[in-house]
This record gives sequence, C-alpha cells and structure tokens, in this order.
Amino acid sequence: METNEKSPNSPQTGYTDEFLTHAFSPQNVGVISDPDGFGAPRGACGDTLEIGLRVRNDRIADLAFLTDGCQHTVACGSVVTTLARDKTVQEALQIDAEAVMDMLGGLPPDHVHCARLAVTTLRLALKDYLKNRQAPWKKLYRT
Ligand code: FES
Repeated sequence: METNEKSPNSPQTGYTDEFLTHAFSPQNVGVISDPDGFGAPRGACGDTLEIGLRVRNDRIADLAFLTDGCQHTVACGSVVTTLARDKTVQEALQIDAEAVMDMLGGLPPDHVHCARLAVTTLRLALKDYLKNRQAPWKKLYRT
C-alpha cells in the first residue's frame, strides 16, 4: 500500500516514534475504582473517552483512561494522563491540546479533535473532583 502522508520523523508510516509508542503501548489504561473525579464525554465523531482520577494533597496521585475511539485517541489518552500524573489540579487544568499534540510530534488535521477530546475529558474529571470536594455527598449520586 502506498501513502502520501510521510513525515521526516517516520518516513514509512507518517507517524513519530512517540506516537507509535503511545498508540500501541499506551500508559495508564484502565479504571480507577471509586475515583475522586471522573469524566466521560462523547466527541463530535461519536467516540467516547473516560478518565478517572485520584487526588492526594492536591496532586493527581493516580489516573487512568479507557476509550472506544480510534488509535489517535488511545495515543492522546496515554499522553494526557502521562502529562497530568503528579501535577497539581491547577497545573493539570492548564494542559491543552497543543501540549498533547507536541508530545506526539503532531497529528493529522482530521485527528486534531482526538487531542481535544482527551483534554476535555481530563478537564471534566478535574472539575468533577473540584465539585465533589465542595459537596462530597453528591459523589453518591453518580450511577
Ligand atoms: Fe473519534 Fe479519534 S476520537 S476519531
């Protein structure tokens, strides 16, 4: 099969080594039981990504993601959770899609939304944590 999508970093596939590592050997895949914060939005493409996280002393002590999305989303979930680990909540809220794409060496234009979905999911999980901290009893409402 011939492809026109070649990059200087990986002429045979068009993807960087960083992308291939995160896409095919992703970090932080799984489920956090009884998380302090949780987010699971559906992207415009119809795919979902979820992140659960545990916070200790205002730092993200543990987090994990699952997705039913594309390989780009797997890579983005791996990167966004790697970037967020051990950060303070406020630091993690600053992680943006550009930081995720930078770590992957870029994404094809039609998959930029996968990085945005990963960042949106992280922010939802962090905001859920902040909301639960304000009103801890509401955590029991989650189904
Ligand atoms: Fe749907 Fe990547 S998240 S195509």
